[in-house]
Amino acid sequence: MILYSRNRRLRTSASIRALVQQTVLTTNDLVMPVFVMEGENTKEAIASMPGIFRRSIDLTVQECRELFSLGIKAVNLYMKVPENLKDNKGTESWNPDGLMQRTIKAIKDAVPDMVVMPDVALDPYSIYGHDGIITNGKVDNDATNDALVTMSISLADAGADILAPSDMMDGRVAAMREGLEENGHTDVGILSYAAKYASSFYGPFRSALDSAPKDFADIPTDKKTYQMDFHNSREALDEVYKDVAEGADIIMIKPGMPYLDIVAKVREAIDLPIAVYNVSGEYAMLKAAAQNGWLDNDRAILESLTCIKRAGADMIFTYAAKEAAVLLNNQ
Ligand code: PBG
Repeated sequence: MILYSRNRRLRTSASIRALVQQTVLTTNDLVMPVFVMEGENTKEAIASMPGIFRRSIDLTVQECRELFSLGIKAVNLYMKVPENLKDNKGTESWNPDGLMQRTIKAIKDAVPDMVVMPDVALDPYSIYGHDGIITNGKVDNDATNDALVTMSISLADAGADILAPSDMMDGRVAAMREGLEENGHTDVGILSYAAKYASSFYGPFRSALDSAPKDFADIPTDKKTYQMDFHNSREALDEVYKDVAEGADIIMIKPGMPYLDIVAKVREAIDLPIAVYNVSGEYAMLKAAAQNGWLDNDRAILESLTCIKRAGADMIFTYAAKEAAVLLNNQ
């Protein structure tokens, strides 16, 4: 039979397949989220995220050295805030000697070329476990923005390179940009979580930081009044355009794997770099299956991260960053 077109011709050998490969994952694409806690020379495993730990600052610095030597150029920071330092306003988040501020300084001192991206949100600092200040039982948008600006300036003062607001308040990118410009932090970037959905896939992360919304009468125990509804797609573009107009440098879409349609759509619409968050629940699912022998861990990691890049991500926040870097370096 004469078949003029046979797609299989270009799949006949590994070398030909390499020649026509369209998406190539590299360690430059990876951002490692790290969890930090008080203490010295200690680390605690996070049960729902096999292989992931909370570490004291000294061990976090050591980990950053290792990550950088593997080719990972950015870390995203999350703090386990002691209960007695939590309040409604998240006051501890702008303490110049707070855990986050000390962590940023320590990493920048030890590994100056590591891009340090602290999370900007009140939930780990909030007695209510919300990303905002509660006023009359509701998450108060504008009061929260004021707090986020104060926090942002404090993190920039500590040496942060790029701030990553994950709170989903309206107008916070513009407010943060103004605060940074007015305080001389013109080169500190903003990676905005523009399309962040209210997702069940954040469960393991919230248990890692003990940051889930707490059960208080008359206060919502979910984040649906600020994070997006997963039934919606066009709304993501609206969120993204607004954050671009407010001065975001990088746009984040979150979660990752179940939301790649959104990633592809945003990729078509804007030219700023796009970050995608392969969140804790996605990591937990993969690890659970791999531990049971139901999935090949290494191949599943590289495939999922490559597919996120194929959909349009310029960088991927993933708990598998270190493992992926080792695999990529050994390829
Ligand atoms: C909170 C925040 C969350 C994550 C990053 N920042 C959880 C939430 O919104 O409740 C989730 C990350 C993950 O699940 O890996 N500001």
